[in-house]
Order: sequence, then structure tokens, then C-alpha cells
Amino acid sequence: MSEAVTYQVMPANWHDLNALRQIEKACFPQDAWPLWDLIAVLTLPGVVRLKAVIGEEMVGFVGGDARPAERVGWITTLGVLPTYQRRGIATCLLAACEAEMDLPCVKLTVRRSNLGAIYLYQKEGYRQTSIWPGYYPGGEDGLVFEKWR
Ligand SMILES: CC(C)(COP(=O)(O)OP(=O)(O)OC[C@H]1O[C@@H](n2cnc3c(N)ncnc32)[C@H](O)[C@@H]1OP(=O)(O)O)[C@@H](O)C(=O)NCCC(=O)NCCS
Repeated sequence: MSEAVTYQVMPANWHDLNALRQIEKACFPQDAWPLWDLIAVLTLPGVVRLKAVIGEEMVGFVGGDARPAERVGWITTLGVLPTYQRRGIATCLLAACEAEMDLPCVKLTVRRSNLGAIYLYQKEGYRQTSIWPGYYPGGEDGLVFEKWR
């Protein structure tokens, strides 16, 4: 069992850019976002951005694109530094992002091979609804999951 750690979930902002870059590099070796996308997720209106923090260190991040006109929110990124995985941090970030977007339907895409993330989403009530063939760099399929609240 993992050592217990105390973390807090709180809003992120552009001051978190460097920490977010580190999380992206560590969590998404194939799919790390370019700098512009990281700036956008930390600054654009209509985006929910939450970080998990232990002490002074940002250890996890979730981004949510709220689309109230469509009554849908998209989870656009979710990552936890490898050292701090399997402690419930992503579950907590996901729930907080869902609550803050406060929309009836939440959707996301995940690589077909990303079983850890798929288990997490299924555990949290997401169900696969479609496949986007070749969606990811390298040609891997994206699985689309959604959850009704
Ligand atoms: C996927 C990810 C966000 C999960 O973060 P986490 O903080 O470790 O997740 P949690 O601790 O909240 O996991 C909750 C449950 O999800 C499932 N789960 C999470 N990671 C898993 C893994 N690697 N293997 C199997 N099940 C996993 C388990 O059921 C877990 O519960 P348990 O630890 O009691 O068994 C993290 O592994 C990560 O950042 N991966 C790289 C980036 C990524 O793939 N993001 C998702 C893109 S769609």
C-alpha cells in the first residue's frame, strides 16, 4: 500500500506554467502539449484548471473545457506525477473538475492502450461511447468516454 500523503486541490493559474510543463513531460512522453496549449489551459476563459499540491509542489493537474451551450464539459488533460500515483489524487482532481464545470455530461478521450486511465474512468462512472480511429500521434485510436451526472 502507498504511503499516505496529504494533498490539496486548488485552482491553478499562469504562475503554474513551469510546474505544468514538468507534469506534462513526466506524464505524456508521447502526447505532451506544446507550450501554447499549456498557456491556453492556464489562462483561457471557460476553462476549469485545478492542481493538486503537496507542500509547495504541484503533483497533479486537470483541465476541463466547459461548454454550457452544449451542456457538455470535456476533460482535456489529467496527469499525476509518477511518484504520487495510486494515492487517489487523479480521482479527486477529476471529481473536483466535474463539480466545477457543473454540466450534465462530461466527456474525454483516452488512448486505447492506456489501461490505467481507462480503469480510473470506468471506476468513476464513465462509459465508452465511441472510437476515434487514429486520433493520437502515432496513429493510436482514441476511445471516447462519457458520464452523465
Ligand atoms: C492515469 C492517472 C492520471 C491516474 O492517476 P492516479 O492519481 O494514480 O489515479 P488514482 O490513484 O486516483 O487511481 C484511482 C483508481 O484508478 C485505477 N488506476 C489508476 N491508475 C492505474 C494503473 N496504472 N493501473 C491500473 N489501475 C489504475 C485503479 O482502480 C485506482 O484505484 P486503486 O489505486 O485503489 O487500485 C496517472 O496514472 C497518470 O498521470 N498517467 C499518465 C497520464 C495519463 O495517462 N493521463 C490520462 C490521459 S486520458
